This record gives sequence, C-alpha cells and structure tokens, in this order.
Amino acid sequence: MDRDDTIPISATPINWFPGHMAVTRRLMKENLGAVDLVLELVDARIPKSSQNPEIDALLQSKKRIVILNKSDLADPDQTARWKDFLMKKGLTVLELDSKTGKNKSVQTIALTAKHLLHEKLEKERAKGMRLPIRAMVVGIPNVGKSTLINTLAGAKKARAENRPGVTKTKQWVRAGEGLELLDMPGVLWPKFEDPTVGENLAITGAIKDSILDSVHLAHLLLSRLVRLYPSLLLARYRLPEEALSLSLPDLFFAIGKKRGFLVSGGDIDEERCAMVLLDEFRAGIIGRMTLEAPEE
Ligand code: G4P
Repeated sequence: MDRDDTIPISATPINWFPGHMAVTRRLMKENLGAVDLVLELVDARIPKSSQNPEIDALLQSKKRIVILNKSDLADPDQTARWKDFLMKKGLTVLELDSKTGKNKSVQTIALTAKHLLHEKLEKERAKGMRLPIRAMVVGIPNVGKSTLINTLAGAKKARAENRPGVTKTKQWVRAGEGLELLDMPGVLWPKFEDPTVGENLAITGAIKDSILDSVHLAHLLLSRLVRLYPSLLLARYRLPEEALSLSLPDLFFAIGKKRGFLVSGGDIDEERCAMVLLDEFRAGIIGRMTLEAPEE
C-alpha cells in the first residue's frame, strides 16, 4: 500500500488522500472564522496517537480546549499525568466521558470556555451584548465527536458520518449554558506515517476493520498489557504470575485455554480468543488502561 496517500491500516471511514487533507485544511480555515473556540478531542487512552499531527498549524491562535475523551476507559493516574503534561505546554485541558457525562460536560466545558474567552465576553458585555459562545468540535474519526455534540445538545443532532473537514452550510446546535456548537464535527487525520500510531488506533477500535488480522492485533495488545498492566491482565484471565514470562503466542494460548476456547487437536480458536481480548480491552472490562505515557 502506498503510505503517502492512505492510512496504513485500511477500511478506516476515510482514506486520507492528499487532496482530502488540502480540502480539510481549507474547510477548517473557513469554519474557524465562525467560531470562538475549538474543542479538540483526543482519546484519553492514546492521547498522542489520536492527535492530528498538524493541529497547532491548523488552529493557529484560535482558542482551544483539549478534551481527553473516553476517560472512563483510561487509567486515571495516566490521565492526570497527561493533563499535567499538556497544561505545562500552555494548553487548556479537560477530561471527559462523552457517553454519559451530560450535565457535568456542558457545565465544565461552558465554564472553561467562558474563562478562556473572558476578555471577549467582557467587551461584549460592556456594549450590552450577550452572544452565545460558538465552538467547533474537531478530532480524528471515532474519537467521539458526534457523541459529544449529541450529549451536549441532548438529542441526535450531529450527523455521525466521517467526512473530512466540516460542513459548508453552518448550522448551530444549542448546548445550554450559553454554548452553541457547529452541528458538523471537523474530521481530522491521524499521523499516518508512524506504525505505532496505526497499531494503537487499531487496538482501541478507532480503525474498525484493520488489515492487521485480529490475532496479530491481539498479540500487539498483549505485549502492551504485559508491559503496562500485568496485574490487571493476570487478574482478568486468572493466570499465575509465571504466565508473564511466557512468549506472546504461549500467553495467548494460555488465555484461550482458560476461557475454554479449546478446539480439536489441542489448539485454541485463535480468532475467538483475539476478539474477546480486543473487545474486553475496548470495553474497559480488563481494566482502565492508557497505552501511551507523555513524553514517550
Ligand atoms: P466520531 O464522531 O468522532 O467519529 O465518533 P463517535 O461519536 O461516532 O464515537 C465513536 C465511538 O466511541 C462510539 O462507539 C461512541 O459511543 C464511543 N464513545 C464516544 N465517546 C465516548 C466516551 O467518552 N466513552 C466511551 N466509553 N465511549 C465513547 P461505537 O461502539 O462506535 O458506537 P455505540 O456502541 O455507541 O453505538
């Protein structure tokens, strides 16, 4: 596959051709003029891999709140470290669970936005104006943009299709607390050229159908879990400590055997075992985990 024009792991909702990126850059520029600030979503489990590599250049001086989304699935200690790390870089950061955190999300985002925009709001108030704060939600596919818009707006407002850039016909949805959102999220591309990024996106399910087969993907996940969360792994699959010294295929086999996925000939149903591992990781059943630390 040509690495220049598509994400290395295929069947992502979008194939990012250079033309797509140019259109997105242009549309972002156009739409940025209509908003006061940007809500930039990243996946709290992989804040680095889920960030658009050109985000600073794309947003320039536009006010921004970085949202560590899906924080319900991430390791709280690592989320705190990431928050600290990003805030030290001068960014405004919130952690969020867009799926369930309705009231808290609206209030937290609105309060933070008001704080960021206080000068502008003061000026408007001095002129007797009370305009809503307008925001655009941006991020790579599947990071939770539509979910956040829908949660904030309290209804199915955002069209969840993954189109590069943002809509030309702007519509606004009221989120409450004086906040309005562009109804169409800005879909950004991840950092294609880094294989680890592709792996992390596939493991977390950001790229639904992967050219990496599920067994290979499950091995990649296992290698991360052995390194980062050995105790959670052992506890979930009721494995003895010694299991951590096994090779990845042997560890994978041990898990399959424990779960009763044995098939004739003494093998395990590898596909089934892989899907269970990936599904349980993605649903947070093995535990709350973050796959990359700041400054890695
Ligand atoms: P996008 O617009 O950025 O492409 O992402 P979208 O909102 O479609 O969300 C992608 C998936 O991530 C959805 O799951 C959604 O429910 C889930 N999601 C979004 N935000 C959060 C969050 O804060 N926490 C958790 N745990 N999940 C979140 P899905 O499996 O594709 O769909 P569904 O199961 O919700 O129907």
